[in-house]
Amino acid sequence: MAAGLRVVLLGPPGAGKGTQAKFLQEHYGACQISTGDILRKAVAEQTPLGKEASGYINRGALVPDDLIVNLVAERLKENDCAPGFILDGFPRTIPQAQSLDEILKKMGMVLNGVLAVQVPQKVIVERLAGRRTCKGCGALYHLAFDPPKAVAVCDRCGGELVQRDDDREETIVARLKVYDTQTAPLVDYYRERNLLRSVDGVGTVDDIRNRIIQALGDVK
Ligand code: AP5
Repeated sequence: MAAGLRVVLLGPPGAGKGTQAKFLQEHYGACQISTGDILRKAVAEQTPLGKEASGYINRGALVPDDLIVNLVAERLKENDCAPGFILDGFPRTIPQAQSLDEILKKMGMVLNGVLAVQVPQKVIVERLAGRRTCKGCGALYHLAFDPPKAVAVCDRCGGELVQRDDDREETIVARLKVYDTQTAPLVDYYRERNLLRSVDGVGTVDDIRNRIIQALGDVK
């Protein structure tokens, strides 16, 4: 069995999955696979995948499973994922989780943990409404909790900071409903497989980081 971190970050929109995945990637030398980032890049580049996905994303719905599963299967084969991986935003439905089990089985691997990051709805809305993302390097900011030094300019690369289209209030509400109905059942799916590790997602970014490291303790 391959060594390394092989985890899923599970949690509602705005739980801080992307923020923590970027840290875990560096800390554990694993690759981050964010299906949301991959889809947004495809939309920006107007690829066939992007053209098909954009309508779903803009109304806060999930992109069909078959479009996502192959994309993740291919990404997992890339060299930077050999030391381990952090899945951020995948799986999001029970069929996606079953497909992931099959993909990993074919690769001779299993997951070694699923981190369920828990954040109440009020905090989620606050986090999503203030989120800004760099168009150049993808760095994440928050207008109140982690503001850039200059308005709308990335501290790291000087790129333009923008608000995601799906962070409008009505779309946030739709995304939260989709999470409750389609993704939350994964908590039980992974609990039944003894993979679930719950993490309180309220607090500073550093607090949550430390809780995740603690929760991962024996992994790797
Ligand atoms: P995706 O991009 O995966 O969005 P999401 O799951 O809704 O998650 P977010 O990226 O909104 O939040 P996050 O948990 O990463 O939080 P973040 O770290 O940014 O998916 C988007 C869309 O793509 C979906 O709606 C769907 O259409 C499609 N899609 C993607 N994957 C799919 C799949 N597998 N199947 C089908 N469709 C799929 O943090 C949020 C903000 O809070 C930031 O501003 C950050 O700076 C701030 N913050 C983070 N932590 C803290 C903290 N501790 N304290 C204060 N502020 C904090």
